[in-house]
Amino acid sequence: MDRTFVMVKPDGVQRGLVGEIISRLEKKGLKLVAARFEKLPEPRVTDQYREHLSKPFFPSLKQYIMGGPVFLMVWEGRNAVSVARKTIGATNPQEAATGTIRGDYGLDIGRNVIHGSDSPESAAREIGIHFKPIEISTYTRIDESVLYEY
Ligand code: RTP
Ligand code: MG
Repeated sequence: MDRTFVMVKPDGVQRGLVGEIISRLEKKGLKLVAARFEKLPEPRVTDQYREHLSKPFFPSLKQYIMGGPVFLMVWEGRNAVSVARKTIGATNPQEAATGTIRGDYGLDIGRNVIHGSDSPESAAREIGIHFKPIEISTYTRIDESVLYEY
C-alpha cells in the first residue's frame, strides 16, 4: 500500500471544508492513518515547500500557509499519491475540473484550499517532516475486502 501527505490549507480550514475534504477522500476508499490540527512553524513550511524557495511566489506562499491553522493528514491506499492528486485537481482552481476539490471549492491559485504530495518520494519526505512514525496507525478498514479486486 502507498501513502500520501495531504494538508487542508488555512483558507480551507477557515471556510469550513475540513469535513468535506475528509469525507471525499474516505469515500474514495483511501484510509486515514494520521492527522493533526496545528499552526505550522516557519521551518516546516520552508522544508515542505523547499522546491519553491527561489520562486517569486514563495514569500506570499509562506505567508499564506502560516496565516492560520492547517489540517495535516496521511492517507493510505493503492496508488494513494496519484489518486489524491486527481481528487484534489489542478493547481489553479480556475482550471481544475469540476468534481475535484479545487475545481469545486476554489477560485484563486494563491488560495487553492489543499495540498497533496506530487510523487511517492515527495510523500515520504513530507510525511517525515510532519509526523513521527509512532503517530501513523496501522489498521484494517472493514470495507477493504470489497474495495479491492485483489
Ligand atoms: P501543492 O504543492 O500546494 O499541493 O500545490 P501543487 O503541487 O498543485 O502546486 P505547486 O507547483 O507545488 O505550488 C505550490 C503552491 O504554491 C502556490 N502557487 N502560487 N502565484 C503562483 O503562480 C503560484 N504558483 C503556485 C499554490 O498555493 C500552490 O498550491
Ligand atoms: Mg506541489
